[in-house]
Amino acid sequence: MKTVAIYSSKGGVGKTATAVNIAYTAASSGKRVLLCDMDSQGAASYYFRIKAKKKFNSQKLLAGEYGKYIRGTDFENLDLLPAHFSFRNLDLALNSLGEKERRMTLAKLLKPLSADYEILLLDCPPNLTLLSENIIEASDAVVCPVIPTTLSLIALEQLLKLFGKLEADKKKILAFFSMVERRKSMHASVIEKYQRYPLFLKSAIPFLAEIEKMGLSRLPVGAVTRHSPAAMEYTRLWNEIWKKITKQQ
Ligand SMILES: Nc1ncnc2c1ncn2[C@@H]1O[C@H](COP(=O)(O)OP(=O)(O)OP(=O)(O)O)[C@@H](O)[C@H]1O
Ligand SMILES: [Mg+2]
Repeated sequence: MKTVAIYSSKGGVGKTATAVNIAYTAASSGKRVLLCDMDSQGAASYYFRIKAKKKFNSQKLLAGEYGKYIRGTDFENLDLLPAHFSFRNLDLALNSLGEKERRMTLAKLLKPLSADYEILLLDCPPNLTLLSENIIEASDAVVCPVIPTTLSLIALEQLLKLFGKLEADKKKILAFFSMVERRKSMHASVIEKYQRYPLFLKSAIPFLAEIEKMGLSRLPVGAVTRHSPAAMEYTRLWNEIWKKITKQQ
């Protein structure tokens, strides 16, 4: 099982749109996929029209009693662990654990899922906390969407710093440019300057109305129109991520 986090400490950079669409793409390719909605806002769960059961909460997640709350989506091979409002307390709960175990808690919790899934995708909240450290430790790859602007680049710098603090392998970071509007001169110049760094994937996701409209359709873009430009961009992105994590390139 490969665990892929979609993470940035910056809000609104396209994490959830990416998680939902690459989960759909990966599942369509025949792989068994679980998307874990780690963000108490529950946006990924919303897109799949799934609500967490009232009995589910962060305590149950941390006790490893989450299996019965996993739900099937409308799509073959794709399941979802919905977020619960109480996930906003995950950091507090993790903080109360012993120093040694608290950073590895999520990794341990998610391990049994390897019996049922080939790919685990984590849609992460925009935080820079102990939960973020857990996410990094639990993941084979940390996919970081970067809008080609200064603030998004700062979030990427913060991620690199956090990897340094954790002594984690920076090769796990797979950054890509998100919500790209090439006619904007700042976007064009940031991409030109940074795209050549090995940290960045070659794929980029343009700003497309089709993706913005997911809030209305509540469907991954590929489920609305299979070969639409947005669906093809996410397929390209996922193929590049998959190649990297399976060391095909
Ligand atoms: N490539 C894109 N083109 C157009 N709109 C996009 C694109 N990616 C995301 N959006 C829209 O931008 C908004 C924020 O995206 P999204 O929710 O995916 O960001 P996020 O990083 O998950 O935010 P948060 O940090 O709050 O969880 C949403 O309304 C989404 O539909
Ligand atoms: Mg989100």
